Amino acid sequence: MVRNWAEEAYRDIFRRRAKTEGFRSRAAYKLLEADKRFRLIKKGDIVVELGAWPGGMTQAASRLVGETGLVIAVDIRKFKAFSESNIITINSDILEEEDTVQKILQVLNGKQVDVVISDASPKFTGIRDVDIARQIELTEKSYNISHKLVKKGGSIMLKALECRELELLEEQIRSSFSYVKRFIPSATRKTSSEIYLIGLKRY
Ligand SMILES: C[S@@+](CC[C@H](N)C(=O)[O-])C[C@H]1O[C@@H](n2cnc3c(N)ncnc32)[C@H](O)[C@@H]1O
Repeated sequence: MVRNWAEEAYRDIFRRRAKTEGFRSRAAYKLLEADKRFRLIKKGDIVVELGAWPGGMTQAASRLVGETGLVIAVDIRKFKAFSESNIITINSDILEEEDTVQKILQVLNGKQVDVVISDASPKFTGIRDVDIARQIELTEKSYNISHKLVKKGGSIMLKALECRELELLEEQIRSSFSYVKRFIPSATRKTSSEIYLIGLKRY
């Protein structure tokens, strides 16, 4: 009970900060922290975010890429219009892998991207096995999509849940990226098994 209260208060700090700093969600801070640690995003980069609604991370990415960069935000839910001019939104189901890739490449005239982020997560049921299976499916689909989009030297950051299957996916990522790291942001709840897999410098 005390733990829940403390955790809720901690989350509230990030929620309030997000509101003050003009971010749609506290998830923005997860990306900013990852960027600080791994230097994921540069000015002028093209970034794709999968599972991007309502858009906090996308806004953080928009600030990091600056006016010369571009962020493509993808979600199954419809976005409220962004005021940032370097954000383009696409409504797509990432489980429809090929369709999502085609929609993104169409916007980019076939150009490859610097970074793919996936923050996609399912509606959780509270049944651990079901939640893990649904999350791993989204993470794997996100990885497959990123494989078709990220250029040589580019990076990925994919949300996952701690589970056995993660090691297999990590192995796969290791075969395409020079550095692979696991990252748990400070804004992640202490009781959550949320984790991000980071792949840097695609071969
Ligand atoms: C944790 S939220 C993302 C928060 C977001 N990154 C932010 O910064 O505000 C997870 C998102 O994944 C999306 N999602 C879940 N399944 C999806 C799917 N099959 N295709 C596209 N988006 C999906 C949900 O609609 C939800 O908006």
